[in-house]
Amino acid sequence: MSTTHLGQIFHVAGSPTVFGADDALAWFPDGALVVDDAGTVIYCGPRDARPADDAEVVHDHGAAFLIPGFVDTHIHFPQTYSVDAYGGGQLLEWLDSCIFPAESRLADPAFAEQIASDFTVRRIAAGTTAAMVFGSAFGHAQDALFAETRRVGLRLISGRGIQTVGGPSAQALLTSERDAVDLTAAEIDRWHAADTGSVDTALLHAAIVPRFSLSVTTDTLAALGELYDDVRDRGVYVHTHLNENNRPGTGEIDMVKRSFEVDSYLDTYDGKFLPGSRIGGKSLLGPRTVMAHAVHCTDAELTRMAATGTSIAHCPVSQLFLGSGTMPWRRTVEAGVTVAAGTDVGAGDEWLISRVLSDAFKVHLSEPGDASVAIHPAEMLFTGTLAGARALDMESRFGNFDAGKEADFLVIRPERWAPLEAILAQGVRADDDRTARDQTLFALLMGLREPAIAEVYVRGARVTV
Ligand code: GUN
Ligand code: ZN
Repeated sequence: MSTTHLGQIFHVAGSPTVFGADDALAWFPDGALVVDDAGTVIYCGPRDARPADDAEVVHDHGAAFLIPGFVDTHIHFPQTYSVDAYGGGQLLEWLDSCIFPAESRLADPAFAEQIASDFTVRRIAAGTTAAMVFGSAFGHAQDALFAETRRVGLRLISGRGIQTVGGPSAQALLTSERDAVDLTAAEIDRWHAADTGSVDTALLHAAIVPRFSLSVTTDTLAALGELYDDVRDRGVYVHTHLNENNRPGTGEIDMVKRSFEVDSYLDTYDGKFLPGSRIGGKSLLGPRTVMAHAVHCTDAELTRMAATGTSIAHCPVSQLFLGSGTMPWRRTVEAGVTVAAGTDVGAGDEWLISRVLSDAFKVHLSEPGDASVAIHPAEMLFTGTLAGARALDMESRFGNFDAGKEADFLVIRPERWAPLEAILAQGVRADDDRTARDQTLFALLMGLREPAIAEVYVRGARVTV
């Protein structure tokens, strides 16, 4: 038996790079998405051309849009209540004055349960079907996050935030060198593919998550390199921050280079964390590694990330909030690195990936001179969906509506958000179909807000609180 969802469908078909997204953009104004009982897409296209099935169950969503679920490749679960926290400074002051104290509150198990529940509610509201989630230092909070995510049926990759050094406000988040590894290894054993028992079918995956280089020692980096070497083959992920804030002298990047005496920030994650960028351990880079931000990379860093299959979680909302600058879009994608979208909640004050894509459009159009680029609406959709699945090394499973993929999708009802309904109904559209298609998708992505996300599906199953 199959289930057919009728609506206006947009997705980026096939497996293009960002440069091919425009040609790969599929639009079916009278579309059908047909899903089998296992939640696998068996057809996406014009509704009249769908395969006949006497037993099909039809959900006619009328004028609603069906798009792939959003993929958020960088979001902090312990910062659910810290969105818009006023820190009176850039990254390092904000961490110190707002974030470390806020994250310390998760030491209380009851608070941890509450924040895990609220975080999951926010994810469903924002249509974030898959997410790389920066975790809490506390094991019980991570248990609450994984358990709640499993209960509702979303996809999750997460790991406890690892910190072995820090100032007074970070004390509650620190562990010994030994515990940093033992607690992370225990979390992997407990939660990696815990839902199905197989990494290839699981919705839940574990990650090794050093907060950033300034939160760990060379001993920690060496030990995590060993741990990753042991678990890499099990499909475990690595997630951290890279080259985010470049305030001269006292900003994050200068501090990393000064403390580790390395040539480049990336070296600290690439096993070359000893003075002079000498090799001190094993690399954390690879196709299941996602670096948040990567705003201020050298050419050599971009080349190395491309060569290792390491991806970037691009978080322009957060970069504006913390004064971190703008990742050079053209230079970064031309280097061949997969660039996906991240909210970076709570430095990002938006939960919705389309709001991240909206800010990406604005900041990259505002880049100076030849760097200025008007990102195409298909590239925006690609970045928020298929590129996210690729960054999470699960492109073969979700990210678009190709037959054989797991059906993660959103039902968007414009009438639930009047400003969106108005721009879709009244906006000027070109006579030629292709330009009208692009204009419609742009309006949809720019005008979308949470109330219009009416239904969320993962692997064909409706996700509700
Ligand atoms: N670098 C280290 N920790 C954080 C964090 O919590 N948020 C951001 N934006 N950058 C970080
Ligand atoms: Zn972050």
